Parts: sequence; C-alpha cells; structure tokens
Amino acid sequence: MASLRGGFRALSWANQLLYSHRSSWKCASCKVTPTIRYPRRYATTSGGASTKPYYITTPIFYVNAAPHVGHLYTMVIADVLKRWRTLLGDTEAQLLTGTDEHGMKIQQAASAAGIDTQAFCDRNCQTFKELARAANMDYNHFIRTTDPAHKEAVQYFWEMLEHRGYIYNAKHEGWYSVSDETFYPQSQVHLSLDPSTGKKRMTSIETGKEVEWSSETNYHFRLSAFQDRLLELYKTGFITPEHYAGDVIKSVSAGLPDLSISRPVERLTWGVPVPSDNTQTIYVWLDALVNYLTKAGYPFPPGEGGRLGWPADVHVVGKDIVRFHCVYWPAFLMALDLPIPRNVLVHGHWTMNRAKMSKSTGNVVNPFFAIDRFGVDTMRFFLAFQGGLASDADYDNSFIIRDYKKYLQQGIGNIAHRTIGCAKGKLRTYIVNAVSGTSQPTRVDQQYQAMLEQLSTKVAKHMENLNPRAALQEIMTVVLQTNKYFHNSEPWRNPEEHQRVLFNVAESMRITGILLQPFMPNKSKEVLDLFRVDPAKRTLSDAGYASNPDYGEEIKKKILFEPLIVES
Ligand code: ME8
Ligand code: MG
Repeated sequence: MASLRGGFRALSWANQLLYSHRSSWKCASCKVTPTIRYPRRYATTSGGASTKPYYITTPIFYVNAAPHVGHLYTMVIADVLKRWRTLLGDTEAQLLTGTDEHGMKIQQAASAAGIDTQAFCDRNCQTFKELARAANMDYNHFIRTTDPAHKEAVQYFWEMLEHRGYIYNAKHEGWYSVSDETFYPQSQVHLSLDPSTGKKRMTSIETGKEVEWSSETNYHFRLSAFQDRLLELYKTGFITPEHYAGDVIKSVSAGLPDLSISRPVERLTWGVPVPSDNTQTIYVWLDALVNYLTKAGYPFPPGEGGRLGWPADVHVVGKDIVRFHCVYWPAFLMALDLPIPRNVLVHGHWTMNRAKMSKSTGNVVNPFFAIDRFGVDTMRFFLAFQGGLASDADYDNSFIIRDYKKYLQQGIGNIAHRTIGCAKGKLRTYIVNAVSGTSQPTRVDQQYQAMLEQLSTKVAKHMENLNPRAALQEIMTVVLQTNKYFHNSEPWRNPEEHQRVLFNVAESMRITGILLQPFMPNKSKEVLDLFRVDPAKRTLSDAGYASNPDYGEEIKKKILFEPLIVES
C-alpha cells in the first residue's frame, strides 16, 4: 500500500476512520456536479490486496432503554460471523456496532427521565458498550449517531439525494408510531384496548404500538421509483434466510408509496437538521441507516469506497426492521448509485411466554445478569444454538440449564475428562501411533472417523450460507455422537488396545475446539489449551482429521464446565 497518491490510499481502513478528511475533498464542485459513479457490486472479498475488507454490522440500538437478551443475541450472531472470518485466516474483517441516538423516541425518553438529551444518550450508550464488552464481542468500531462525523455523512447523503432529484416537499398525513419510529397507512392501524388503562387507542396492527395522527408538510423521498429494481434485487439472494423475502416481495409488489424523510422541528428537534432548511429535521431512519456508510468512510474519495469496506457483506438485523433494511436502505443507495450490501441476515425474536422481548414493553431479561449467572460462553452458546433465524425462540432459564448440562458439561466436559483419565498419561503416544499409522481403526472407528473428517466442511458450508445455528448444531451432533462412541467402545477396559478410540476422541476435542472458537472464544481456548494444541494451529485449515500430530503432550485433567451453582 506504499506511496500512493495524496496519502489517502496509504491509510489503513481503521486509521482512515480516525481522520476526518471529509471536508478536505467535499469540494464545492463535487457538491454541484457529483459525477462519481460506482459499480453496483465489487469483486469478491477473499484475499488479494485490491479487495475490500469483509464488513459485518449489527443494527445500531436505540438508547431509549437498557439492552436486553435480544440485543445480546444480535451482537453474538454478528460476532460469530466476524470470528468465523478470523478462523478462516482473515485478519482484516470489520465488525461495526453502535447506538441510534436521535429521533422522537429518544427525545421523549430523555424528557421523561428529566435528563438533558445528550447526557441521557451518553449514559445509555455506555450500557450498550458495556454489553458489547461483556458479550466478548470482537468489534472494530462502535458508532454513535450523535458523532459529528456521522452527522456530516448524513447531511452529505441528503444533499446527494436532493441533487439527484429524489427529494420533494409535500403535505403528509398519516399515523406515526414514536415507539416504532415509522408512519403507518390507515390499513395498518386499528382501534384497540390498552390493557393497563382500559382506554381505546389507535395502534399498529403489526407491532401493537400506539400511533398518533399527524398532518404536516415535510420532505419525501421518491421511493416509488425503485419498485422494479428492488424486486430484481430480491432475486439475488439479498435477504437471508429466504423465508423473510416472501413478505417483502409481497409488500413491495403491492405498491411502494414515497417515503416521508423529515419532520418539522416543532415535533422533532433531536436529530440531524435538513441541510439548508432549519425548519425540518431528518427522519431518524434515514439518519440511522447511513451509519453503515459513515464507518466505511463515506463520503468516499473517488474510487475508494470498495477498498474502505463498502458495500457491507452482512447486515445482521432482527425481523422487526426488515423493511427499513431491505426496502428503504437499498433504495436510498440505488438513488446514489452506491453499491448495495451483499446480504441482510434476518433473525427471529426471543420471546418470553411467547411475547416479543421488548424494551418498551418491559418483558425483558437483563443480559448482564444472564452473563453473570451462566457465564459469557454459555450464553453465547445457548443463544446461537437455540436462537431462531427463521423463527422465534422462547427464552427460559431452564432451557439454558438443560443445554449446558447436555452439551457442555456432560458433552464436551465429560468427553475431555474421560479421555484424559482413560489414557493414563499415554495420550501423546496414542496420538503419535495413530497419525503414523501404527494403530489401526476398526470398522466402527472408521465410521466415527468419517464423521470427524466431514465436520469442518459441513460447518464451513453452513457458515457460508450465513447459518451459524446450523453450524453449531452440526458440531453439537458430533459431541453427542462422540459420547456414544466412547461409551460403546469401552476403552477403559483396555486403553492400550483401544488407543485408536482414545485418539479419535482426542481428535474430536481438537476439531470441535477449533470450530467452536467463533461461538465460545474462552471455553474453546480452554479445551485447546487443555489438549496442548499449538495456538498457531487453530485455524479452519487445521480442523482436518489427523492433520496435526503435534499435540497432547503432558495433559493434565481439568474441569471445563463447573456444575451450575443455582439449579433452577
Ligand atoms: O430498531 N429478539 O433499534 P432497537 C431478538 N435503532 N432480537 C431483538 C429483540 C428480540 N426480542 N429485540 C430487539 C432499532 N432485538 C433501530 C435500528 S439500524 C440502522 C437502526 C434486536 O434498539 C434485533 O436485532 O429497537 C432488532 O432488530 C434490534 O435489536 C432492534 O433494536
Ligand atoms: Mg425496537
């Protein structure tokens, strides 16, 4: 990357973010005649100096209230994808998370708390940062929409939309939900009874959140112009799992009205002002979505967007915000000829007694308490294992305890313990014998080996398909099978004669230990350390059966998964 024009290119992706070069090239001529055109898609992301870093994002979370287990789940899924890249040997992958701090929802929450809005955001943003840390999230950037660089990017984005003729001023009437930060058409609201007050009120049919009538003049985005291109986009596998594409296609096909993208300042002050119109504030979702570009260095110097990370490879989102990410966002980008993200990975909701866990409803599980109680790796494991990508999942402490016992304690923990005990200090010899071909497998051993041989390929396939849950299930199936294999082979009767079994089971620990690193970074490290696997040999390419003869020296027993203290 040396000696490149203007010094800009020489900066690494991360360093570039620390610089605010925007003003230096946001020249008047660019603003007047934005001639920059970007190819719709960049080349693939793997390897090579000319390719862009793999780029993963979480939604930026509203700071109106404290995070719950649903937010932790999204963080974990995104982090598993990021750590999977690391396992592939990709050290450049970028993971972005952060907080959404503008809009009526935040303005009202701060006012209800009687705190200055910025101070309110500062405090609550901190809690999300703490959660990202407690979740052991390996993120590269934490963005706040109140960051000055972000506000600049939003205003620039707006100006470009305006310059290209996609923004106009018109009267707007409709039902607005502050909680959902969106307008609903008449067909999507109804009168319902508020159970807490017994009063009738208008609510969104979809989310049950209260709506208020609003009639005002504001700016609109020509969303309707993008119907055909959006429908084309959905044919490319943009939405994962495909299951979620159906509803989006149906609603976009049914008609796409233009979108209101500002609010009068009398209603909303807490946001980014519309450039050159101080009577209007930019709609919080337009502001929020641009965050993904801000951290990729938008506005991009000519030709640099790709190298800096754009387009995103995966936006991880909950199903509640599919429309924003799969309809509005690609349409905004299309309007500016910016490349479209490669994938929106949608997941279902965590529910409690079948109702969506939600900050505003209050039926939530405090993720800090859950992590304290069960440990971060157990929580990461449980959420990734049971969390619904295609469907919702119900949360209950008893489910965590059940899975902990079955898969971790009596699975991995038990296998490790028994293998080491049974080998009576000779595991290293058995490893050497097996790899050198001295000890021969029986037919049963061969069957078991075949499963281990295929594991990393199967897991990789699921991860390529952005299905970490299926990947983890694949690993856990092998853990359960290993327990059976060990039990049925009865190696303890004569360890020397069953040394192939002991080797195979040690291999299961080494291979599953490698593959579990994205899911349980700490525990998998403990497993690999316990079996003395060289830290330099823990990448995906090391996860082949019998591919590493150099581990197992002087192993000592250790409890990997302690009994849970409170068993209820
Ligand atoms: O929507 N189960 O922020 P938000 C699973 N600021 N995931 C859940 C969940 C649940 N019960 N509840 C929340 C916003 N989530 C906007 C996003 S992005 C440009 C702006 C997760 O604080 C899930 O990822 O309401 C969901 O999409 C997100 O939190 C919504 O967080
Ligand atoms: Mg929400």
